[in-house]
Amino acid sequence: MPEGQNSLVKEINLPSPEQKEFDKTVFPLILCPNNEIENKAVFESIAKVTEWIKTDKTVIEDQLLKHGAILFRDFPLECPSDFDSFVKAFNYGALPYVGGAAPRTLVVGDVYTSNEAPPDSLIPFHHEMAQVPNYPSVLFFYCDIPPTEGGQTPLVPSNLVYKKMVKLESEFVNTLKEKGVIYTRVLPNGDDPTSPIGRGWQSTYGTEDRVEAEKKALELVGSIEWQKDGCLKTVTRVLPAIREDPRTGKEMWFNSIIAVFRGWKDSRNSPETSITFGDGTPMNPRVMDTLENVLNELAIDFRWQKGDVVMLDNRQALHGRRSFVPPRRILAALCK
Ligand code: FE2
Repeated sequence: MPEGQNSLVKEINLPSPEQKEFDKTVFPLILCPNNEIENKAVFESIAKVTEWIKTDKTVIEDQLLKHGAILFRDFPLECPSDFDSFVKAFNYGALPYVGGAAPRTLVVGDVYTSNEAPPDSLIPFHHEMAQVPNYPSVLFFYCDIPPTEGGQTPLVPSNLVYKKMVKLESEFVNTLKEKGVIYTRVLPNGDDPTSPIGRGWQSTYGTEDRVEAEKKALELVGSIEWQKDGCLKTVTRVLPAIREDPRTGKEMWFNSIIAVFRGWKDSRNSPETSITFGDGTPMNPRVMDTLENVLNELAIDFRWQKGDVVMLDNRQALHGRRSFVPPRRILAALCK
């Protein structure tokens, strides 16, 4: 247990690949109630948990900065509104999901379903909303119904991806640093639940009005173009794909390149046009294979248990979703 940590919780360890150690730091940190101290449950209710979070917030935040992700296990979270209380105890404020691509439904408070893409499709690694200027700093995930087969939320430390890619594909990384990236996406006219990026322009921008949608879109992207069928094509400005985290000085693989290349595939979008370098030149598919291997090699794949919460530093770690056999219900909260 790190020094200064309130003894109400203790650290536990899981075998790889559910948890790994990188540079002498475990990823993710796993915390559970320290029920041994008084031989009884230290948190008998969610109210006790939120009290602890409020008291030890900076300790938890220091741990998040150090580890990049924390899995809270065996805390008394029974339902989505307990999860909402857990998240609200940190007092970060919810980030509206404006400009995000995934179809999501509000559950309670600031809690949404995670990406509702079909169970058999895999959601590739990404930093949440890396393609829009206002991305969440912290994400929380909650396991309401654990999957019986598959359905992990794999996590990867972004700086390690960067370092590995520099070793394996230095030319690509240099071009990426020099030119940045552009994301192009055609949003359907109304939600399309058959697509992992099927969020219609109406729910993306929270309006049915085309003029208002245009205005909101142009706050997030560089240019837009209405299609004949009522769909909306958006093209971002040139965005950096590698960013230094000012808190640590570490370079992050902060982009959605692999998510776009593998996932932005539907009747309106194709990977080759959805992601390019900042000057419009295409990316080499061979490098995408290397990148995918690097991500999977570094990934941790913990198995969800009912009531688990993952707190993820969105600037330090990428996440994805494995395919699964239903049922599975993982909820999410995005914070400023
Ligand atoms: Fe995500």
